[in-house]
Amino acid sequence: MRLIAHRGFADEAPENTLAALEHAASSGADVMELDVRRCASGEVVVHHDETVDRVTDGSGRVADLTRAELAGLDVLGSGEGVPTLAAVLESVPDSLALNVECKEVGVAAEAAELLAGHDGDAMLSSFDRDALAEAGDAAPSVPTAFLTDSLRNRPVSTAVEFDCDYVHPHYFLPLLSKLVPRAHDAGIEVNVWTVRSPSIVRLLGLRGVDGIVSDRSDVL
Ligand code: G3P
Ligand code: MG
Repeated sequence: MRLIAHRGFADEAPENTLAALEHAASSGADVMELDVRRCASGEVVVHHDETVDRVTDGSGRVADLTRAELAGLDVLGSGEGVPTLAAVLESVPDSLALNVECKEVGVAAEAAELLAGHDGDAMLSSFDRDALAEAGDAAPSVPTAFLTDSLRNRPVSTAVEFDCDYVHPHYFLPLLSKLVPRAHDAGIEVNVWTVRSPSIVRLLGLRGVDGIVSDRSDVL
């Protein structure tokens, strides 16, 4: 089963930083998941929340802060600022694939183009259909994943509609045992999020999921 380090194993390392990238690579992850949005000076930066308040010593919206201002912050006491996606791509080791989650429409095209120019394996994921469409138009060769926490979003049909290679349902989604074979029949792999418990991982393995997103490196 594929192990995807959620924000770089967020229980163990400062989320979405270069330190987390290193930690994920050295702790057995196959893939690092990270979140991207656009900052005030235009770069694609790696940050989960709309504001920097929760995880840095600063405050304000990412969209209102420049790359230099974000770089000068301290993420969760690591001494490291908010990195750009370009910096992550320069640092990622060959052994580690990336799952770049687009938190906004309007960032996906550039993120997809950056991934298309990257030597290693990388996919782009989003809850937002418009972001998936944007990525598909900008860089059709980059694999994509449809993220969802609701069956109302018709996970497999939507993944097929947007030509995704993966569907990423929440692990709590009902009828997962039906979703997995339907996805596989359509040639789509299933990675579920965000799992902390080894016993749930065992159950998900029995249901045939292909990968899990986790905050912990020891969950398998
Ligand atoms: O990849 C799944 C997960 O990252 C989606 O939720 O809020 O942690 O980005 P969130
Ligand atoms: Mg995410």
